Amino acid sequence: MRIRQAKVSDVGRIHELINEHAAQGKLLPRPLSELYEKIQMFAVAEEKDRVIACGALQVSWEDLAEVRSLVVSKERQGKGIGSKIVRHLELQAKRLGIGRVFALSFRPGFFKTIGYRVVKRETLPHKVWRDCVRCPLFPDCGETALMKRIAGR
Ligand SMILES: CC(C)(COP(=O)(O)OP(=O)(O)OC[C@H]1O[C@@H](n2cnc3c(N)ncnc32)[C@H](O)[C@@H]1OP(=O)(O)O)[C@@H](O)C(=O)NCCC(=O)NCCS
Repeated sequence: MRIRQAKVSDVGRIHELINEHAAQGKLLPRPLSELYEKIQMFAVAEEKDRVIACGALQVSWEDLAEVRSLVVSKERQGKGIGSKIVRHLELQAKRLGIGRVFALSFRPGFFKTIGYRVVKRETLPHKVWRDCVRCPLFPDCGETALMKRIAGR
């Protein structure tokens, strides 16, 4: 298994992974058009030429980026792949000179295990809520905001 930056040819599989879990209310659905526009943000885990997991890093503001659209295919969960993808995205944030990474998640337990701590959603920049406003569950979606400091400034 290796983690690499995504290619345009991965979009179909990323779409499948995200929307499969979105249908169960575990994360927000993403249209294909948005995935093409944002493909540079994505990393994927590949095993035997098959993409089995994905995640994206979106820069939000000075010193702050978001881990989003994190999914591991059902049959490969619980094997350390999700944490490896997040680690890859954190290293990328560090390379960009970003000191803090956050996530909005229905799975706070996972993020806590890998070093994130719960923060008040109101402490995140307003810009972060742009996507939330489009969501049918807004404003009571039940997602938890979690943050991790990855480098001192
Ligand atoms: C949440 C998800 C990305 C985690 O990926 P994963 O590969 O299954 O997780 P890992 O195997 O890397 O787990 C890392 C650690 O987190 C823990 N963990 C995983 N999911 C957890 C959960 N829901 N609650 C608490 N701890 C969890 C694991 O036990 C492991 O701990 P350990 O290192 O002490 O053994 C994956 O289960 C998934 O895709 N779920 C469906 C989609 C989803 O909910 N995405 C939301 C993320 S925003």
